[in-house]
Amino acid sequence: MTVPETSPPQAPGEPATFDVAIVGAGYVGVPLAQVFAEAGRSVLLVDVDADRVDALNRGDSYIEDVPPEKLRELVAERGLRATTDYEQLRDVDAIVIALPTPLSRQREPDLSIVLGAAAEIAKRLRPGHLVVLESTTYPGTTRDDLRPILEQGSGLVAGVDFDLAFSPERVDPGRTDWTTGNVPKVVGGVNDASTEAAARLYAGAVDTIHRVSSPEAAELTKLLENIFRSVNIALVNELAQLCDRMGIDVWEVVDAAATKPFGFMSFKPGPGLGGHCIPVDPFYLTWKAREFGFTTEFIELAGKVNEAMPYYCRSLISQALNHKKQKSMSGSHILVLGVAYKPDIGDVRESPALKLIELLRNAGSDVAYHDPHVPSIPELALESVPLDPAQYDCVAIVTDHSSIDYDALVDRADLVVDLRNATGQKGRDSDKVWKL
Ligand SMILES: NC(=O)c1ccc[n+]([C@@H]2O[C@H](COP(=O)([O-])OP(=O)(O)OC[C@H]3O[C@@H](n4cnc5c(N)ncnc54)[C@H](O)[C@@H]3O)[C@@H](O)[C@H]2O)c1
Repeated sequence: MTVPETSPPQAPGEPATFDVAIVGAGYVGVPLAQVFAEAGRSVLLVDVDADRVDALNRGDSYIEDVPPEKLRELVAERGLRATTDYEQLRDVDAIVIALPTPLSRQREPDLSIVLGAAAEIAKRLRPGHLVVLESTTYPGTTRDDLRPILEQGSGLVAGVDFDLAFSPERVDPGRTDWTTGNVPKVVGGVNDASTEAAARLYAGAVDTIHRVSSPEAAELTKLLENIFRSVNIALVNELAQLCDRMGIDVWEVVDAAATKPFGFMSFKPGPGLGGHCIPVDPFYLTWKAREFGFTTEFIELAGKVNEAMPYYCRSLISQALNHKKQKSMSGSHILVLGVAYKPDIGDVRESPALKLIELLRNAGSDVAYHDPHVPSIPELALESVPLDPAQYDCVAIVTDHSSIDYDALVDRADLVVDLRNATGQKGRDSDKVWKL
């Protein structure tokens, strides 16, 4: 990891010290900075991306959950600042790590970003500091991986000279009812003093704090939440495939089951999992479980079913073209409508739309996409085109953004493959619509 050695000049009136520094100014770090700043804390965001840092200091938000006008207010009135300079960590009270925890190409946990940053933090650690890891990871990371790096680099002892805890971020980007500020915060320290220090940090910034006995319990809490989603989505994705063979509308069944006021939680089928969390995090536990001679079969099975969904959806598009237009996939013009991994956001990380586009291209289709939130996909050399459904042999609804008029789409398109039930009753009634 390259960390700039020189400090940027101190702007006039800028506080020399900060209550809290957040390392990693992404989907997690920036909303977290907002809730701390709104609670009256002085906040420093630390990121290796100089463009992001410049944007933040100008008040230009690149995270949809924190609107630019809100960020400008936090910068102007609450002293929120960003830097590429780890040296400034010396002057903060608490350091929160919100860095990516991806999988390697072999689908094993890749903690290199977090642990590389930890080595830099360790050089600046001083007695009295609090360090909290928020990145999603397997149980044991905070105590067994992070702690030794912090201790060896600083000569200090966790739980004695400095406090160390894990507290999972549970933000759901794009959501407005449950946000960083009102989703309860689970905290678990390496000892009671660390747990209490972490609880004090978040008190006032988040509404509810839930203490657990260890960082391992806090780490596994987050994984349980994401595995719960992955497994239930897989269940309903499998059911969707059976429903197709049985001639039953899976959406009608899920909606009907959801009328039960207890004992059932509604999950929707779709083209596969997306985002930085649900497709990735469960495999952190799978990997760790192997150390204990244990196979996490639910996680593996869910992964298998969910990862097969883009292939299944490609076959639906193929059938729809065959039956409704007597066309093969090869040479067909297909518009993918919505490429973000979920509605009303612009995040395409791990989005099943990317896989589906690749599969359609491999089958010889000419693929364009429209997404009001995603102007371009550089890795596929594609730019969002205007929504003109009549130009295509088939429109595949992959992400159901709320700004799209689906009734008008059905009226104007020749053929729609609806993988999200976005066309609702109109889609059910129309012989132009082929549904998952
Ligand atoms: N995005 C979500 O919805 C979400 C929700 C809950 C938990 N999480 C977890 O939170 C963690 C962070 O995810 P995210 O979505 O905010 O990631 P992100 O990719 O949006 O942001 C990470 C930021 O870290 C910066 N960065 C990379 N290496 C750095 C380094 N060495 N030093 C400083 N900055 C560095 C990047 O430039 C980027 O700005 C992950 O573990 C993720 O699983 C994410």
